[in-house]
Amino acid sequence: MNTIPTLYSERVILRPFTLEDAPAVQAILNDREITDYMLTIPYPCTLEWVEAWIQQVSGDAPTGRYTFGVIRRDDETIIGRINIRVNADHQRGEIGYWLGRAFWGQGYATEMARRVIQFGFDDLGLNRVVGQCFAQNERSARVLEKAGMRYEATFRDDYLKNGVYETTHFYGALRGEWDRA
Ligand SMILES: CC(C)(COP(=O)(O)OP(=O)(O)OC[C@H]1O[C@@H](n2cnc3c(N)ncnc32)[C@H](O)[C@@H]1OP(=O)(O)O)[C@@H](O)C(=O)NCCC(=O)NCCS
Repeated sequence: MNTIPTLYSERVILRPFTLEDAPAVQAILNDREITDYMLTIPYPCTLEWVEAWIQQVSGDAPTGRYTFGVIRRDDETIIGRINIRVNADHQRGEIGYWLGRAFWGQGYATEMARRVIQFGFDDLGLNRVVGQCFAQNERSARVLEKAGMRYEATFRDDYLKNGVYETTHFYGALRGEWDRA
């Protein structure tokens, strides 16, 4: 699939970002409670960085990376982002996500993760979808579990973030066993 599609679920729409989204995205991302858990987002996070990032991810589908803006259906507010990065050789995808802090704790992350996992299995023909989080990120671990993944492994000191080694927890789902409920 060479373009990023629009996906629908009960309370959110997942669609490609446009440059018009940049100010809302920057307002969300300029928050250490988010950037501390993400590998590549700087803090402070500037409008220029967000605009360059949107331009980059908008053209990424041919490389197997699909990045979606997450829009709340009720009021068309941008609440977050989710992506899936595909390794076609192995029919495997990895998801990553963030939500604006004002939108945490309402099940949105679980809903968007489930929708993207379904996209991976049904539309991209994947066999396996994985997700990983820093060990202290219990919220994200819970999202991965609620989205139907199983804990698989711990990788000690796997990443270096802000001068600190971060241990990560790894979760995965296989197409044949993923619970669509
Ligand atoms: C991780 C994140 C997307 C979760 O979003 P969310 O909308 O709050 O997630 P949900 O509401 O779907 O689920 C959160 C779950 O974590 C639980 N939770 C919340 N705070 C928690 C905490 N401090 N410790 C453990 N669990 C916690 C909630 O109770 C909920 O589980 P439940 O439904 O069983 O009660 C959001 O916190 C975020 O964007 N964080 C910063 C960026 C980030 O960490 N991205 C992921 C990188 S791997």
